Amino acid sequence: MSKITLRQLLDHAAEHDYGVPAFNMSNMEQAMAIMAAANEVDAPVIIQVSRGARAYATDVMLEHMIAGLSRLYPNIPVCIHLDHGNTPRTCVTAIQAGFTSVMMDGSLQEDGKTPTCWDENVKVTRKVVDIAHLFGVSVEGELGVLGSLVTGAGETEDGHGAEGVLRRDQLLTDSDEAVTFVQETGVDALAIAMGTSHGAYKFDREPDGAILAMQVVEDIHRKLPNTHLVMHGSSSVPQDLQDVINQYGGQMLQTWGVPVEEIQRGIRFGVRKINIDTDNRMAMSGQIRRILYQHPGELDPRKYLLPAREAMTRLCTQRLEEFSTAGKGSKIRKIFTLNEMAERYVSGISGPYLSC
Ligand code: G3H
Ligand code: 13P
Ligand code: ZN
Repeated sequence: MSKITLRQLLDHAAEHDYGVPAFNMSNMEQAMAIMAAANEVDAPVIIQVSRGARAYATDVMLEHMIAGLSRLYPNIPVCIHLDHGNTPRTCVTAIQAGFTSVMMDGSLQEDGKTPTCWDENVKVTRKVVDIAHLFGVSVEGELGVLGSLVTGAGETEDGHGAEGVLRRDQLLTDSDEAVTFVQETGVDALAIAMGTSHGAYKFDREPDGAILAMQVVEDIHRKLPNTHLVMHGSSSVPQDLQDVINQYGGQMLQTWGVPVEEIQRGIRFGVRKINIDTDNRMAMSGQIRRILYQHPGELDPRKYLLPAREAMTRLCTQRLEEFSTAGKGSKIRKIFTLNEMAERYVSGISGPYLSC
């Protein structure tokens, strides 16, 4: 892989009308699954690592895995991104560990649970932008709080997500505020809230505009046509994956995710980064369940981890095709170094695009 920054990759995506999935990774199986998919369809990709994943895998192992992937797949542009950084310090340690992009999620306080006020969000995000850009590293900020328009509840999966019931105005990013937030912080990409949430239980029915407010994306894009928008909680929670899990002893309740066509609509309106974790978790755990159910005496982890990895590769390949990321890897002719990116920020070539 050739490491690329989020800013450069999303600038390319905007120029060529495609979206880039950001797949979460916590271990070697997931890392290899993502890269196999990107390689198969000649796609650039974003590998994102959460705080939980860093704690699980350690930065040392992550660094070496990424170095290994660079040798296995030298030609694929990959952005290594910190997902939901909660403090400037977390972002800085990610930069030190070789990430090319960080998310400062200032929509929540350091505890990852309590919504912040406007001033706090701007202050902490601006601080990370000031630091990261000196290193050429990109920054994603978030305005609005992820949560369900059905229940008003935030989501607290794995210790990250708003607690309690949120107001509707917190759950939907306001387009005028988005304009001011981007101006005041200088972020390279903006995560917005429009009714998606993390995890498998997003919607209790096939979503319509009342519970998945794609109109918000369109409104923001109209006012910020040159800002790269990010959709979190964008797993589609496919029915066939729910069925496999339940067929082999799982206990998932019927649920609905974000339809791929809605994401494709978002891509037409400035969505450039699409966060997906749950679908891959489901793809992997379905296969692990199947193998262990069908072969209860199986003891060799490779016998269930390989099918799990292959199922994740299929899912990633499908999304790379659906978001038109496929075929774009070799079209990115030059990848700026972090020093070159830093130079561009310092000399003010930072908007609307850092042309590539
Ligand atoms: O942001 C949510 C992702 O699904 C990451 O989850 O913190 O368990 O790695 P995680
Ligand atoms: P999902 O839970 O929908 O996969 O979302 C993942 C995500 O937004 C990570 O930041
Ligand atoms: Zn997220």
